[in-house]
Amino acid sequence: MEKFVEITAAGLQDTFAAADRILKEMQGCGRKYYVESYGCQMNEHDAEKIAGMLQACGYSKAETKNDANLILYNTCCIREHAEKRVFGNIGALKKRKEEDPGLIICVCGCMMQQKAVADRLFKRFPFVDIVFGTHELHRFPILLEKALSGERVISVRESDGEVVEDLPVIRNGSFSTFVTITYGCNNFCSYCIVPYVRGRERSRSPENIVNEVRELVRQGYKEITLLGQNVNSYRYDDVDFPELLRQVNEVEGDFRIRFMTSHPKDLSPRLIDAMATLDKVCNHIHLPVQSGSNAILSAMNRKYTREKYFALVDAIREKVDGVELTSDFIVGFPGETEEDFEDTLDLARRVGFSAAYVFMYSPRAGTKAAKMENQIPEEVKKERLLRLNACNAEQLQAANAGKYVGTNGTVLVEGCDTRGPSSMAYGKLTNFKMVYFPGGPELIGKLCRVNITDTQNNSLIGELAD
Ligand code: 5AD
Ligand code: SF4
Repeated sequence: MEKFVEITAAGLQDTFAAADRILKEMQGCGRKYYVESYGCQMNEHDAEKIAGMLQACGYSKAETKNDANLILYNTCCIREHAEKRVFGNIGALKKRKEEDPGLIICVCGCMMQQKAVADRLFKRFPFVDIVFGTHELHRFPILLEKALSGERVISVRESDGEVVEDLPVIRNGSFSTFVTITYGCNNFCSYCIVPYVRGRERSRSPENIVNEVRELVRQGYKEITLLGQNVNSYRYDDVDFPELLRQVNEVEGDFRIRFMTSHPKDLSPRLIDAMATLDKVCNHIHLPVQSGSNAILSAMNRKYTREKYFALVDAIREKVDGVELTSDFIVGFPGETEEDFEDTLDLARRVGFSAAYVFMYSPRAGTKAAKMENQIPEEVKKERLLRLNACNAEQLQAANAGKYVGTNGTVLVEGCDTRGPSSMAYGKLTNFKMVYFPGGPELIGKLCRVNITDTQNNSLIGELAD
């Protein structure tokens, strides 16, 4: 992969200067922000950077939207449903702004990177103060300063292909967090809008990634998820993804490494070896298959066949102890026949995913698939979604019952459910299976050994080992 311009603290002087001026101006005002993020982990992580910049401007986090002086929506456009929700939520702020004209309303993220959509939103909602795209994230304080002086700002530009380092981050979690390793995507799957709104693939330097991981582990994080639209295509000079994993694995400390998302076309035997041999790398892989029909995979421009996918699954299962696979599916892609869909059911049955996320195909303007003929009626998409979900659930229950009872593993406790008669702690095994076991909130953020005693729907039941 080509190397791109790296913007570090020195290149962010205008951003930090604007933040400083806002901070001085705002001192003692007790300004609060409310950030709502839609969509994937990449967006969630961007929202953490926005929070970091807002805190540098002197804002603190509001408990609720009603307490906020600044409301920001970080949007997603992967499917139409995500877009509709945003328009609805923004419309609902009109009254708030009338009552409190000092309120600053911002809309950013993938949906706003589509220039026509951003223009439409900016015109339709005159009470929105700032609209900006994904390539403007690091300039947010500059835009905010303008808005605070009464200007309405819209800023959407093409990517200059840069990688931005050194932005402040306020992380949502205290024990599990994200580290971005690549930005953008070059794959152009025919249904997908991501390459258009996130720009070309660009990798961060291994040095920056390893330093960030080291610092997070020092702060006490127990789980680091390396993020990219296609982590397998990570490359910086002669460091590829398996080599990066090896370097991250060498960071000292008691923590786990996860990564997502992997593309089957680029999943190499070296990556499988890295998963099998590196002690901190979890035995789980999210490997979206999208469809089980070769005709549909080809129309989707996925660049693999169902046979290739089966071979990968076999190789992973053979090498990586106790591995679990999760996947994404799209049903109702243009031209998908009943036979194509049955191939998908057959693939799902044969692989047996430990979790599967099934989506109805949603045409995205500007993508190749949106222009294809023989789009599938909504009722057919819905019906296939239900059938595939039922098929996956059936598989899963049978697999859970057979495989897990009597085994043990380590859970990173994420939370605690106190609604039932006894308090149940919950969290995931290294292979991403969710386990519930008797335990209190003091366990949250801890790695606990548990014995698996039973199963329940998609998850497992256990007890603390001695
Ligand atoms: N319609 C439906 N699902 C989509 N995805 C991506 N684009 C679309 C679309 N246009 C799904 C894919 C991907 C996941 C993140 O979202 O399954 O893996
Ligand atoms: Fe979209 Fe395909 Fe890139 Fe994933 S790999 S972000 S599905 S274009």
